[in-house]
Amino acid sequence: MLKNIFLKLSENRVLNVAAKRYGLKMGAQHVVAGTTIEETIESIKKLNALGISCTVDNLGEFVFEKAEAVEAKNQIIEVIEAIDTHQVDAHISLKPTQLGLDIDYDFTLDNLKEIVGIAHKYGTFINIDMESTKHLQPSFDILDELSKEFDNVGTVIQAYFYRASEDIQKYKNFRLRIVKGAYKEPEEYAYQTTEEIDQNYMELIEYHLLNGKFTSIATHDHHVINHMKQFINDNNIPNDKFEFQMLYGFRTDMQQQLANEGYNFCTYVPFGKDWYGYFMRRLAERPANMNLVVKQVFNK
Ligand code: FDA
Repeated sequence: MLKNIFLKLSENRVLNVAAKRYGLKMGAQHVVAGTTIEETIESIKKLNALGISCTVDNLGEFVFEKAEAVEAKNQIIEVIEAIDTHQVDAHISLKPTQLGLDIDYDFTLDNLKEIVGIAHKYGTFINIDMESTKHLQPSFDILDELSKEFDNVGTVIQAYFYRASEDIQKYKNFRLRIVKGAYKEPEEYAYQTTEEIDQNYMELIEYHLLNGKFTSIATHDHHVINHMKQFINDNNIPNDKFEFQMLYGFRTDMQQQLANEGYNFCTYVPFGKDWYGYFMRRLAERPANMNLVVKQVFNK
């Protein structure tokens, strides 16, 4: 019930525009690293000092004007340059809609080609985040095109989709992040129960780990993490073939613990003014995250 309310709110364009104007509010500053590149680089340096690498996401959704997509592209290029200038341990995560997927496919592909080309020169990996069903196939098509020219690009497999087991076979030679899936998807396309999603999630991770390609296990779920640690041990999966990932600001003790145990750990670091949709999806995933909001309201 609460999940659906927050997912509905995450799609509200008016609130999204208002949020951009008023800065990080409602507790969002605990889960968003900053609004500028400078602030974000400082956050990355702190995580790197703890033995944690980062994937940086310049937040942006509801892009329906080409100028906005071009601005987003330029900002992402600035982040790639800042990663190199400051020699921090980080790569990029980006969303195709931010680069124009709701406007024009070819325009988006050109934006992606420019970004991935520049990142290639710097030796920086680009992860294409996956969004809702509508954007799924075009995002894979973009990946197909990019991989004809570049090897520094990978994507995300969302375990709630029935098609995920076919997608993971098709993309088995790519570096993949595997997640449960964050958007509201109909029964027509996606598993609805926690049990089904968790089951598929673990099977997909195991499949990709056994394939020997790099796997990012992106979850805050300690049941999954413990299961995967055992699986990795039992199957002698080399340490340099996988990492755990969590979102900035969530389960920070566990993030540090996994890094201390010697696992590669990567924190997903979102930044920017367009924090609203991202923050609402986090509230939908775990209404306990409402604590962030409540604390903010009462600590004024
Ligand atoms: P889930 O929400 O299923 O929780 C399972 C259990 O874990 C809970 O019952 C609780 O016991 C424990 N738990 C979870 N969070 C906790 C917390 N904060 N504190 C204490 N206990 C907690 N999605 C997408 O569609 N496209 C994408 O590109 C990405 N990218 C992405 C990157 C990274 C790094 C992460 C971590 C996640 C994503 N996601 C995503 C989001 C993903 O699909 C999913 O919605 C969320 O990670 C929530 O699912 P979890 O597996 O984390 O735990």
